[in-house]
Amino acid sequence: MRKKISFAGPSITEKEVAYVTDAVRNGWYENFDGYIRKLERAFADYVGVKYAIATHCCTHALHLAAAAVGLKAGDEVIVTDFSWVATAYAVSYTGADCVFVDIDPDTWTIDPACIRKAVTKKTKAIMLVHTFGHPAEMDEIMSIAKEYGLFVIEDAAPAVGAQYHGKPVGGFGDVACFSFQGAKMTVSGEGGMLLTDNEDIYQRAKLLADMGRTDREAVFWSDLLGFEYVMSNVSASLALAQLERVEELIAKKRQIFNWYDTRLKEVKGLKIVREKPGCRSNYCYPSLLLEDSVTADRDEILAGLRKLNIHARPGFPQMSRFPVYKQRFENPVAALVEKRGISLPSAANLEEDDIDFVCSSLTGLMREG
Ligand SMILES: Cc1ncc(COP(=O)(O)O)c(C=O)c1O
Repeated sequence: MRKKISFAGPSITEKEVAYVTDAVRNGWYENFDGYIRKLERAFADYVGVKYAIATHCCTHALHLAAAAVGLKAGDEVIVTDFSWVATAYAVSYTGADCVFVDIDPDTWTIDPACIRKAVTKKTKAIMLVHTFGHPAEMDEIMSIAKEYGLFVIEDAAPAVGAQYHGKPVGGFGDVACFSFQGAKMTVSGEGGMLLTDNEDIYQRAKLLADMGRTDREAVFWSDLLGFEYVMSNVSASLALAQLERVEELIAKKRQIFNWYDTRLKEVKGLKIVREKPGCRSNYCYPSLLLEDSVTADRDEILAGLRKLNIHARPGFPQMSRFPVYKQRFENPVAALVEKRGISLPSAANLEEDDIDFVCSSLTGLMREG
């Protein structure tokens, strides 16, 4: 059998090995948080914001963001209905209600027209996702937020390096969160990052991330019900090495996307998610939709690929259908992508002949259906 064609996975070089080795050897005593501080500064500078907090994972960063903007029971938050569940659960942890809205059929990011229709007197915030590394429609979203006085939280988990009109995502809303989980653009095993330009949000998030400790001189004192959400120095060393290579890592993802696009663009029945004019996608997860003309069943295609050791993924299930949520929402585009969407393998160790194999296998399975 051919090698496993992984859905995602990192590129690790001597740089990462050197930084982690240094953190393990020397990242203690007076250097116990050296890599964390460097990573926070470097990430904030890369995106162009003032403040950063490195966290254990992006889910924690999202929870901190939701709490730091003051979400609470009785508030409504407008949330995209197409994402990994962490996006919605971060809102729900605060007691606020998620109002799930539909996505744009071309980019699979939250549809601003649907946001506008969902605003009520109780709406406090918008939780958007830069889906699979494609920027959400930030101009329209920010103008709706301004009009109604809403906070904007950017879930940029997979989207480091994505740009909207030349500006990196993560610097548009009140607060943004990124992931360093092993399948993301830059990895640290598990890891996350909260970014903000707002000093109040930063101070509140910082307090909550570190067990509510305001006075570090009073060693064990805690002032409020906080969490243990901070990143470890060893994880930060790996994340920093990856961040310093981010443009190279994005270039590889974009090359993989181009290999797919060249082979699949003439195939009837496939709608490929491409970056919109004015946007730079990091193509973290190249994706496509099987149109109606394709009679093959999406899940059978995925199972057929799996038999060939090709690991592709289905679209996210609509989060609004999870048992945690009692109210039902009609979001037809998200429902369609759930059933007919495919994200293709784009691990950093894939080469052009692997993509060739994925494409010929995919088109073969489409014909069988
Ligand atoms: C859109 C989105 N948000 C949040 C997360 C959560 O990230 P983490 O695993 O670092 O908590 C993910 C992870 O897959 C994600 O894709």
